[in-house]
Amino acid sequence: MHQPVLVQEVLKYLSPQPGEVVIDATIGLGGHSELFLEKIQPNGRLIGIDLDKESLFQTQTRLNSFLTTGKEIGSIDLFCDNFVNIGKILERLRQKGVDIIFLDLGISSYQLETSHRGFSFLKEAILDMRMSLDNPLTAQEVINKYSLDNLIKIFRFYGEERFSKHIAQRIITYRKRKKITSTIQLAEIVKSAVHYKGQRIHPATRVFQAIRIEVNKELDNLKGFLERIVRYLNPRARVGIISFHSLEDRLVKESFRNYQKQGPLEIITKKPIVASLKEKRENPASRSAKLRVAMRKNI
Ligand SMILES: C[S@@+](CC[C@H](N)C(=O)[O-])C[C@H]1O[C@@H](n2cnc3c(N)ncnc32)[C@H](O)[C@@H]1O
Repeated sequence: MHQPVLVQEVLKYLSPQPGEVVIDATIGLGGHSELFLEKIQPNGRLIGIDLDKESLFQTQTRLNSFLTTGKEIGSIDLFCDNFVNIGKILERLRQKGVDIIFLDLGISSYQLETSHRGFSFLKEAILDMRMSLDNPLTAQEVINKYSLDNLIKIFRFYGEERFSKHIAQRIITYRKRKKITSTIQLAEIVKSAVHYKGQRIHPATRVFQAIRIEVNKELDNLKGFLERIVRYLNPRARVGIISFHSLEDRLVKESFRNYQKQGPLEIITKKPIVASLKEKRENPASRSAKLRVAMRKNI
């Protein structure tokens, strides 16, 4: 089960109130949404979005059981879609503005641990890594078709991997003999190309992260979202984003700063909010989490 991160902090800074409209645009397994639902009753509206059909199916069941608790739920609407399409979704719902938009980026531990999705270098699976099964680009395509330069760029930029060139060269040499089709096969190739001494993380961690970001166009999606966000916020609405990667965090920070300079948003978290030592110990997924929150000015 996915354990949601920074729960108390999200509730504190986003402060969901009875009757409010909340979009959880990366609803995943619904961990944060369940808490939002508690706070926005009576008559609150929750709109959940996720690219991942399998996760949404589970979330639907989880939130349905919430609906039977007898509380006065306004409405819950779930969409299998990309969060860049928030505008179209709101149009379909005839919902003009919202009070909270929340993003908890990356993948859930459910996705990581479901072996057939191919996100984990610890579990034998076909190299896939797509959040949306409609995405035509898979990790296998990236690894077997991308040029040497492209692979180096991806590993360096998205993975901040020191041995990008070595790893990319090793992949190119290997794939001339044999197609790279499985997670463990790729993890072994990466391991054979790097010489990390006594490090705590698995040598394939950064490469897998980089491929995942490329396959799912994660930074492009975040940029697209940030460009559109302000027009959907009611006066005094809050937008909160949890990121797990310095590139994502930088995009959020710069976008919030620009909006603050231009006028429509006020930054609520001067510095990013990070997990307490206790949470970091108990939930390793929270270790790199950074939450930033901004508020739509009352104009
Ligand atoms: C860290 S998980 C969210 C977990 C959730 N907060 C919970 O408590 O269960 C991130 C989720 O975002 C989804 N996701 C990532 N990028 C997306 C995008 N561009 N549009 C919609 N969903 C996306 C992933 O499929 C994943 O389920």
